[in-house]
This record gives sequence, structure tokens and C-alpha cells, in this order.
Amino acid sequence: MSDKGYRILLVDDEADLLSLWKLRLKNSGYKVTTALSGEEALVKLSVVKPNVVLTDLRMQGIDGMALFEAIRERNKTIPVIIITAHGSIPEAVEATKKGVFSFLTKPIDGKDLILETEKALQFSIGDTLQQDDSNKWRRDIISKSAAMEELLSRSLLVSDTDSTVLIRGESGTGKELLAIAIHRASSRKDGAFVPVNCAAIPEALLESELFGHAKGSFTGASNKHVGLFKSAHKGTLFLDEIGDMPLQLQVKLLRVLQEKQVRPVGSTTPVPVDVRIISATHRNLEEAIEYKQFREDLYYRLNVVNLELPPLHERKEDIPLLAEYFVQILSGDSKKPVKRITPEAMRILVDAAWPGNVRQLYNVVENAFALATSSFITEDLLHDAIKQHQKKIVPLSEARRQFEQQYLIKLLKTTQGNVSEAARIANRNRTDFYKLLNRHHIIPALFKS
Ligand SMILES: Nc1ncnc2c1ncn2[C@@H]1O[C@H](COP(=O)(O)OP(=O)(O)OP(=O)(O)O)[C@@H](O)[C@H]1O
Ligand SMILES: [Mg+2]
Repeated sequence: MSDKGYRILLVDDEADLLSLWKLRLKNSGYKVTTALSGEEALVKLSVVKPNVVLTDLRMQGIDGMALFEAIRERNKTIPVIIITAHGSIPEAVEATKKGVFSFLTKPIDGKDLILETEKALQFSIGDTLQQDDSNKWRRDIISKSAAMEELLSRSLLVSDTDSTVLIRGESGTGKELLAIAIHRASSRKDGAFVPVNCAAIPEALLESELFGHAKGSFTGASNKHVGLFKSAHKGTLFLDEIGDMPLQLQVKLLRVLQEKQVRPVGSTTPVPVDVRIISATHRNLEEAIEYKQFREDLYYRLNVVNLELPPLHERKEDIPLLAEYFVQILSGDSKKPVKRITPEAMRILVDAAWPGNVRQLYNVVENAFALATSSFITEDLLHDAIKQHQKKIVPLSEARRQFEQQYLIKLLKTTQGNVSEAARIANRNRTDFYKLLNRHHIIPALFKS
């Protein structure tokens, strides 16, 4: 922690206590600013931009709770720890319901002070650290893991070049989010960021969507259409799911990249374009090249810079931060008490497998949040939510394949490996049925008892 220089704002009207705690925190490597009143704390808040605030509850004027509420009005994310005397524990319990991070009881044990501060820091969301303008570009990417920090600093380095960037990573890891961040960090930020999902647009339309078309160039083309390349002029074009781009179009895309001009469908006049290309895929492009589904020359054009988003289970440190962030988003500006994920529940989140990565984490938190009847999101709520979202969503072709395989296995089990009977139940002729079995590498003999 110490090398990161986290900033702590410490508030109490007793100067002696203040200097004692300050010393302890400083010895642990924190940068500590002190304030002798709630009023002073509010002034210092915007200057020091603390990552955590520790404040006494009972003070003249603005007391601890009022300070907390004033802080919340300005910033939704800074964790606030309240320090109480023995007698005020019920008030402290009320305070946590309102969203105060936790409370410490006087006299404070030095170890507890540090422990609680560290815990709070885990929830101290990017927002506070990232408030300065230089970090604005990455403000939507919540992370603290070394892997993500490394990736983000590489992203920043390449953002201001016009090199093509290829972002890879499993589904739901934040590829699009990163593409947007790179655009924001670049000098093209005032231009448009234009996303295109190459897998979602029918092949017949993709070309005119990308390059535009002249009036009357094909049936239904009544208006002149400039195309996404032109809309992204001086900005960034994000080619999502590039691995799914049809081969024919890959040739045309390559030509655009080489010539820096597009030829609208049905037009002979090329139009110059100044566009930065970021593409993304969850597919293995090298394999696609081997199977002649993806052009190698285009691959090299697109892959000048290669950024890989790690799956969520490889950056577990990010999970508490992301989960708390999602709870905050879900709470919106509602005046209802902020919901908190209990520590036990958080453990479950950290230990889960997350095949659907960050998107799945969001869905699970959203689900549990909706069902929470108290201000705490508990273990059992999360258990249920995770169970519901555990099934990995796969492409339709893969789902069909899995279903077919399971179906055949069940069928052969029932008929104890009798192919004629199995084929009859499946309503297929024997030849077809054998082909099906071969495709799934299923050997009927193994099912004979
Ligand atoms: N580090 C992060 N911080 C905050 N939100 C994130 C983060 N990573 C991903 N998300 C959120 O998770 C969801 C999925 O992210 P995104 O769409 O960028 O993923 P993707 O890799 O493009 O997924 P797919 O391959 O399915 O298209 C989005 O709602 C995004 O805002
Ligand atoms: Mg995506």
C-alpha cells in the first residue's frame, strides 16, 4: 500500500487523538491530512481528494454523520469510516445502514485502525484516484489489478498513434469499453467513435453500411448513404467481432486500409477517409487463418498493436471494486439507503468462476440487488443469482452441437447401443444416423451392456 501514496482525510475535534492516529497511519505509508472540524474537512476534501475519510461522530457544528452526507453529495464513492465513543454504537449501526463504510470504537487499537483503512481502500473506487483530468479517459474502466494497470498504460501509450489496434479477450471482458477509452485518450477524441458489429449485420448489407452507397446503386437504395467509414472521418471506427467478417469483405477492407479511401457501392469515385481502426474479437484469428476463414494480410494490417483483456478470474482483485461499483450504479441517485455487499457475500463473488466475465458479474449483482429486501446483499442472495447465471451462453452453433451430442448419448444409453432402434426413434435412416454419430465421435458399441 505504502508506495501507492493513498490519501487519508482524518477528522476529529481532539487535537491529541488526531496527531496520534495521524502518526500511525503515516507509519503505514499513507498521506494523511487532518481537520479539526467537519467544516474544515469539507474545505480540505476538494483539495486533497482523499481515498478514504475517517471522522469522529460527535463534533461541534457539522458532526460525523452530517459530514458523511455532505461528502456523499459531492462524491458517491469515497468510503467514510466513523469513529465513535462507546455509548454511540446504536447510532453507528444506523450510520452503516445509510452507507457509511464502517465504524471504529474508541479507544482505537492501532492494528484495527490500519486494517479498517485498508479494507475501505479496497472499495475506494477509481473515481477518487482518477479524478484528475489526465485519467479521465479511463474513468469507466474500474480496475486495480496489476494486469489491468499494465494493459491500461500500454493502451495509453498507443492511443495517440494512428496504429491499428486489435483487442482480444473473452466475451464480457470489456473490449468495447477499452476501445472507447483509447479513442477518448487520443487526439481524435473530438471526432466520432463509430462501433460496427461485423457479426450482426447481414453480409449483403455490411459492405454498403461500411463504405456507403450511391443513390439507386441497388434495389432499395433510395438515398445516398455515406457509410460508417465516412461517419468516422477524423475519429475512430471500431470493428467489433472482426473475426466474423465475410472473406469477400475482408479483401475490400484491406484495400481501404491500404489506400485510405473508400469506394461507395455503385460509385466509381473514391472518397478519402482519415480513420483510426480499432478491432476486437473473441475468436482465435490465427486458427481462422489456418482454416482460410480469415485473411493473413488483413490480420497483419489490423494487428499492429495487440491488446489482450485478461479474463475476470485472472484478476480477482478487481471483483470487489467492480461489485461495489455496480451496486452504486444500480442505486442510482435514489435516496434509499445504499446497499452493501456483506464480506461473506463478497468472498463468494471473488471465488466464483465467471465464464461470462465482467458482464456476468454485473448481471449477478443486478439480480441480487433487485431481490435484496434489506440494505445488505447477503450470501444466499448471491448464491442464487450465481446459480442462475452460471450457464455460459455459447453461440447457437455450439449450443446445437452440445444438444445434439447429449441427445445422441441419451438415445444410445436408452437403446443400449442398438443403432437401428436409436435411428428409428430419432426418425433418421441408418446411413444418416451413422454420419451423425461419426460427427460426434460416438461409438455405439460402448453403450452395449
Ligand atoms: N473494468 C470494467 N469496469 C466497469 N465496467 C466494465 C468493465 N469491464 C466490463 N465492464 C462492463 O461489462 C459489460 C461488458 O463489457 P464490453 O461490452 O466492453 O465487453 P466485450 O469484451 O466487448 O464483450 P463481448 O465480447 O461480449 O462483446 C459492459 O456493460 C461494460 O460496461
Ligand atoms: Mg463487445
